[in-house]
Formats: sequence, C-alpha cells, structure tokens
Amino acid sequence: MEFYLAGQWQDRDDRIEVINPANGEVIDTVPKASADDVETALNAAVEGAREMAKLSGYRRFEILRRTADLMVENREDLARTLSQEEGKTIHEARTEVDRARQTIELSGEEAKRLTGEVLPLDGGEGVSGKLGFTLRVPCGVVAAITPFNFPLNLVSHKVGPALAGGNSIILKPASDTPLVALKFVKLLLEAGLPERGISTLTGSGSTIGSKICSDNRVRKISFTGSQEVGEKICHAAGIKKVTMELGSNSPLIVLPDADLDKVVNAVVASGYANAGQVCISAQRLIVDESMHDELMQRLIPKIESIVAGNPLQEETQMGPMVRESDAVRVESWIQEAVSQGAKLACGGERNGAFVSPALILETKPDMKIVNDELFGPGVAVSRARDIDDAIHMANDTRYGLSAGIFTQDVDSAVRFAKEVQSGNIHINWGPMWRTDLMPYGGLKDSGLGKEGPKYAIEEMTESKTVVIHS
Ligand code: SIN
Repeated sequence: MEFYLAGQWQDRDDRIEVINPANGEVIDTVPKASADDVETALNAAVEGAREMAKLSGYRRFEILRRTADLMVENREDLARTLSQEEGKTIHEARTEVDRARQTIELSGEEAKRLTGEVLPLDGGEGVSGKLGFTLRVPCGVVAAITPFNFPLNLVSHKVGPALAGGNSIILKPASDTPLVALKFVKLLLEAGLPERGISTLTGSGSTIGSKICSDNRVRKISFTGSQEVGEKICHAAGIKKVTMELGSNSPLIVLPDADLDKVVNAVVASGYANAGQVCISAQRLIVDESMHDELMQRLIPKIESIVAGNPLQEETQMGPMVRESDAVRVESWIQEAVSQGAKLACGGERNGAFVSPALILETKPDMKIVNDELFGPGVAVSRARDIDDAIHMANDTRYGLSAGIFTQDVDSAVRFAKEVQSGNIHINWGPMWRTDLMPYGGLKDSGLGKEGPKYAIEEMTESKTVVIHS
C-alpha cells in the first residue's frame, strides 16, 4: 500500500514488508518514510490544523459519523486485514473493528460538546464589573504513535478525539501493522476529512518518532507502547502536551471467598486474549494459599483446552504472537523462571511465532515473568498469605495500569480499590476489561493522562481564559 502524505497517496522505492505472523508470508509492503517525508508531513499538518480549526463542531461530528458508517460497510475487510497482519483471531479482529467504530462515534459526539466554564470573577477580592469564561480551542498539530496490538482501535482512540477537537494529526502506525491503519485513513478521507487533516508516516520508529516528537510544530503527542520508548519520547518532547499509555504486569488477586468458576473464566479471558499481547493482560495471578491448589486444578484443563492455530479459521481461539522474535523472548522468560524454581503447569512451547498458553506456578517477585511486562500468553501464579500480603504483592511493581480482585466481601473490595496503585480497578473480574467510553490510563510507570474520547479530547485541546473588562 502507499502512505497518505500531505494530501496525496504516495509511494517510495524504499519499502518495508508486512508479514503475516501465522505463516511468515509477506502480505504487502509500505513505504519507509524518510526524514524529508517527516518534514513534508509537519508542513502539511500545520496547514491542515488551520483548515480543521475552521470546521464547525457539527461538521467534525458529521465526518466522524460517516467514517463510522463506512467502517460498518467495510467491517470484514478491516477485520481480515487486521487478523492477517497482527495475528489476532478473526473473532477478536471483528470485535476490534466494532470497538473502533464505537470509538469514532463517541469521538464525533464529543465534537459537539466542547465547552468551557463561566468564571465567578467577582468572587475575587475587589473585583467587579468583569465577565470571565474559558474557551476550549484545538492544540493544532497532534502526533500519534500507535502500537501493533490494537492497530485499529488504538489508532481510533487517538485520531478520533484529535479530529473531533479540531486538530490535524500525523499518524505513525506500528511498523508491523500499518495496513489496517492506512485503510482506516482511506475511509476518513472518503467521509470528507480535509486533505491535510491527516498524514501518515510508515516505517522506522527512530527516523520518524524522534523528529516528530521533538518538533515544536507538534503541540501534542499521544503514544501507546513500551515504558522505555515512552520515556524517550517525553525527554524529546520538551514543552508540549503528552499522553502516554505504557506497559503493565497487571495483577489479579483471588481471595478465599471468591467464586472459582468466575475466576477460571476471568483468567482465561484476561490472560490469553490476543495471545497475551494486551497492556492490561492478567499477568500476575495472586492467589490466597488456602484455595490455591483447588483453583489450579480447575484452571489448568481450561487453559489446555484453548484452541490455538490459524487466526482466520472460525474455531481458533488464540493466534500467534506478532513476531517470532517476541515468541522466542516469551519462551526464554518462561524457561528462565523455571530454572529459578518456578513450575510450568501447562503450555510455554513455541512453534514459530506461536507460544502455547502457559501457566507458571510458584513464581517469585524477582523473576522477569513477574517483574517485567511479559506481553505474551503466560500467567505467573504466586501464593498470598492474606489480603495484606496480596495487596503488597499487587503494588510491588513500577507499573499501575489495571488490577482485578475476586471477593464477595465489600470491605475487602473497597480496600483493594483504595490501596492498589492502579488507574483501573476491577472488582470480581480480571484486569483486562475496557469499554471505550471510560477513562483509561495508568499510574506510576504505566503512563500519563487518560484516553476515552471524552477525556482524550480534553488532553487534545487547550483552555484559554477570557476576561471582558466592562
Ligand atoms: C492496550 O493494550 O493498550 C489496550 C487494551 C484495550 O483497549 O482493550
């Protein structure tokens, strides 16, 4: 495919391959953007920002609503593209397209709700005869750097609010999964987006990312990806707004009064969806030792029954990881934990980019599969003496994106919600749950700012204070 830059679909001789991780075949190629392309995108985005700011809120709503309709019309094509380039199952891919369509609809609605507040200036000592209010205005140029794991919905979470807020946007999709993002841009343009409202840059993160992040024409950066890259972006950004959705090793605590059937379902849903490549996957299962063995007996056969295979086949429940090199890393982290005393209850075998769903018992805090972000199909189990011990273990990490607890006891649930350092808290479900309208973002090294169209649009607009002196 070509990339869309400065109002035109363009090609380049220098191209990168997009690989289907399920079979290693090249699906397509996309241009590798050069430093000159980045400069072109920045200039076009400055012009685009002027055009976008002139559109009424209603017009921005119309464009996004029409885009959502086109996403419905193109649902199967988007889902198949997404499944082929990322490796998620066709069911997961259809769900992602539906979520992305909703994210775009929600963003469109927000375009009609940009509001400020009337300021009670005469409440200031000695102030009278003044009228004050705030105005919400676009930031200008937004840059979005998006990850491979939700290559359509996480693009929508950045592009939707940016356009709804009256900005232009430069999109750098993940190098592994650019195709669905480019197809989505086609739909935006077909829906009537001004030509310079968006530009895309495909290719190497280091050429593109460092230049767009440090350039002062960009006024807002929205990034989803690893903590390491997030930190580099923050350093390069200087004085501009940033939203960072970074990693996690999310905990799920199981207390003795938990409903174990629900726990089993939640672990399977939270630990292995998208082959564990979700920022809020249940990575650390912290189980009260009084019912640890019973839970494992119920859980292991369920994990072993997950059907892994060709993501395009309707019966497949888990696909490959996005790259073979990631599968090699996950396999080696599991083997390292076993060499340090953990016990592999099931899975953990690699075949190309596939890793069979793994459950690792008797894990300890200093093991990589507990301490770092695994981002693969493995759940690390540890035993807790009581709720104090469990909460301490849940917080014993630099991350804090999402956390879950199973308990019937209201006091324990409330204590968990208050004491666990995490941006999202789930009572009686696993950490991997999100609906796209809710505020979503991490504490500690898991990030800065919130997504969810209503919250993202605030982060993608500026507030001005206006005072009329009469
Ligand atoms: C993520 O992995 O960052 C997003 C998870 C989701 O939207 O479900």
